[in-house]
Amino acid sequence: MTETTEAPVPVGASANTRKVFIKTYGCQMNVYDSQRMGDALAKDGYEPTETIEDADLVLLNTCHIRERAAEKVYSELGRIRLIKAERHSQGREFRVGVTGCVAQAEGREIIARAPVVDLVVGPQTYHRLPEALARVARGDKVVDTDYAVEDKFDHLPNTSDRQIRARGVTAFLTVQEGCDKFCTFCVVPYTRGSEVSRPFAGIVEEARRLADSGVREVTLLGQNVNAWAGEDAAGRPVGLAGLLRALAEIPGIARLRYTTSHPRDMDAELIRAHADLESLMPYLHLPVQSGSDRILKAMNRRHTADDYLRLVETIRAARPDIAMSGDFIVGFPGETEEDFDATMRLVVEIGYASAFSFKYSPRPGTPGADMDDHVDEAVKSERLQRLQALLRVQQDRFAASLVGQTIPVLVEKPGRYAHQLVGRSPFLQPVVLPAGAGAIGEIVDVTIESTLPNSLMATGAGIEAGRKVA
Ligand code: SAH
Ligand code: SF4
Ligand code: F3S
Repeated sequence: MTETTEAPVPVGASANTRKVFIKTYGCQMNVYDSQRMGDALAKDGYEPTETIEDADLVLLNTCHIRERAAEKVYSELGRIRLIKAERHSQGREFRVGVTGCVAQAEGREIIARAPVVDLVVGPQTYHRLPEALARVARGDKVVDTDYAVEDKFDHLPNTSDRQIRARGVTAFLTVQEGCDKFCTFCVVPYTRGSEVSRPFAGIVEEARRLADSGVREVTLLGQNVNAWAGEDAAGRPVGLAGLLRALAEIPGIARLRYTTSHPRDMDAELIRAHADLESLMPYLHLPVQSGSDRILKAMNRRHTADDYLRLVETIRAARPDIAMSGDFIVGFPGETEEDFDATMRLVVEIGYASAFSFKYSPRPGTPGADMDDHVDEAVKSERLQRLQALLRVQQDRFAASLVGQTIPVLVEKPGRYAHQLVGRSPFLQPVVLPAGAGAIGEIVDVTIESTLPNSLMATGAGIEAGRKVA
């Protein structure tokens, strides 16, 4: 889809000194997508930059999941308009693109509402960014929100060794995209399309390249990652458990994680993998959304609160030290005080190590938006506060239970002070380590001395070295 406008003729920056600033909103998949967009643009001569003032091209990689997510994008575009006007007054090129889930959902509407935007590219077509930019350079406005028939992963250039190293010792790897579940509150099936699994061979190859360039921890991503299905190297059908087993064999990869899972796709094989695979970290993000069967039904989650409780019991029997994480929505249409109490009871029963909770936000085009009995904003806020207070207590309690324990920590990066490093616990918590604890990329055993609101402190900040274990 192409619309012609009177864009100024680009002068200024030459083709090989162009810089791109990518701002990422939303989930981990968007983080991964931003990196891959960077890879695609690097081939086109764009270098990444961390500052908008430095950039010749700005991409906002957007999220549509809740109302405020999209509003943030429009207010950012308001600021960018001023920068673009200034650049043009200097006769310099400055392109603005909107990518991601708002791009997919709103398409050309974005350009109508924010004419500063030159291109709108959806999550399934960003491998065509260089082509879209070439059209923008010819004076077009470009909207490309097809659900492309070709697999974008086959068309993206490989991430270079240098790019992987610059991104650190942990990496995301998308293995599955899209969703066919149609929970009644959720836009994802509309923004990411239907469920697609990336083939086994491409995933293994990408994981090998990550490992060869120093990555120690890989998090497999998918909107319903545990629905991943494919065929292994021998042509046998495998699920996520089989994929994890293959990835665990890759030398250098010490830690594996996956997110986000749907309770209905948590099969026995995958639970067994948690018992067997040492590198599969004991942390599981398993959203439940509500503890009320009535609300779960209205949300089309297709399981009961009791199904979820029993599932977590089975997972804990396989891997007793597993830390549970979840997502919750309060104030879904029709939610009564009684329904909300059921959610609070479920939280108490599970005991979460971490969790995300949100006020229900009606999304245009989803069945939830058209339901009766929308809950008052004030009631939603009050319920969210109560839920978050409970989840906070649980998170603090879990963190406190680690004090005095010795746990393996992956050293990730320098800390805020010279005598500190920052690492990651098996349970995904940031851990502040003494600088001598180990080299970046090593896994060291450290003893936890105290807790901070969202991280752990290892013993001996800068004094006592941790013992290297991997
Ligand atoms: N695929 C995952 C969730 C993806 S969206 C799953 O099935 O659980 C991430 C989270 O955002 C959801 O788990 C939900 O808690 C929240 N969310 C999604 N749509 C929402 C909406 N309309 N209002 C409020 N929160 C929402
Ligand atoms: Fe959204 Fe439900 Fe699909 Fe998760 S499973 S992405 S919440 S529709
Ligand atoms: Fe947001 Fe799209 Fe992710 S709506 S949460 S960026 S899949």
